[in-house]
Amino acid sequence: MSPPKFELGTLDHAVYTRKSVRAFTNQPVPREVLKSLIESACRAPSGTNTQPWRVYVLEGAARDNLVDEVCKIHDAMAKDPELAKQYTDSYDYYPEKWISPFIDRRRQNGWGLYGLLGIDKTQKDKMHAQQQRNFRFFDAPVGLMFTLNTAMGRGSLLDYGMFLQTLMLAARGVGLSTCPQAAWLAFSKIVHQHIKAGPDEMLVCAMCLGYEDTDALVNTFETPRESVDSVLTWV
Ligand SMILES: Cc1cc2nc3c(=O)[nH]c(=O)nc-3n(C[C@H](O)[C@H](O)[C@H](O)COP(=O)(O)O)c2cc1C
Repeated sequence: MSPPKFELGTLDHAVYTRKSVRAFTNQPVPREVLKSLIESACRAPSGTNTQPWRVYVLEGAARDNLVDEVCKIHDAMAKDPELAKQYTDSYDYYPEKWISPFIDRRRQNGWGLYGLLGIDKTQKDKMHAQQQRNFRFFDAPVGLMFTLNTAMGRGSLLDYGMFLQTLMLAARGVGLSTCPQAAWLAFSKIVHQHIKAGPDEMLVCAMCLGYEDTDALVNTFETPRESVDSVLTWV
């Protein structure tokens, strides 16, 4: 399904061309552009205007140092799965027990992506390498980390979602692409040290930001959506 053709600069253009990009060029993103995107995201609504977001930008050496450390640990974990016990997700983004239809969509998404790349279940090394692309920010020059004060309630995650989507749509408005990432949650302990977050901060998610590599096969991946009628109940 190709996105409908909307006029550049319209909200619908941003909505329908936003997709998770998993290969970026090395074209840098100027700081003033980055700052204006975060400023747009800050226009997101939040319950009683609590504005619970906090953004850490990693570029250059700061980005590379985090990538190097986490990729090393990720490699070590592949050799010694026991190591994974030392790294726990900062919060339960996903359910402990999956049920249908969510697990089916999750599997369709995962195997759809790996299938496109010609990776099957038996190819553990290739799966590991593709998973590790997450911890290389898919080569994006900018990695973003988002934290929430642990004193806040679950509702703040709702506010955060609006902040993140506003940021991703604003990015499309200036020709930039993104990939939100929960993969980093497992390494929140390491992320915390690198971004020097306080003990009262919880990693909500990460995000890659940069210019899409339009030649990359992985970026041709298209995700379906349920029909609007299946999510809609007229009461
Ligand atoms: C909070 C959040 C976390 C995500 N984490 C990851 C991730 O760690 N790695 C990844 O490749 N994609 C990640 N995704 C992207 C989803 O797989 C993607 O949004 C979904 O398949 C729909 O595709 P689309 O974004 O291209 O429309 C994440 C998306 C969200 C909203």
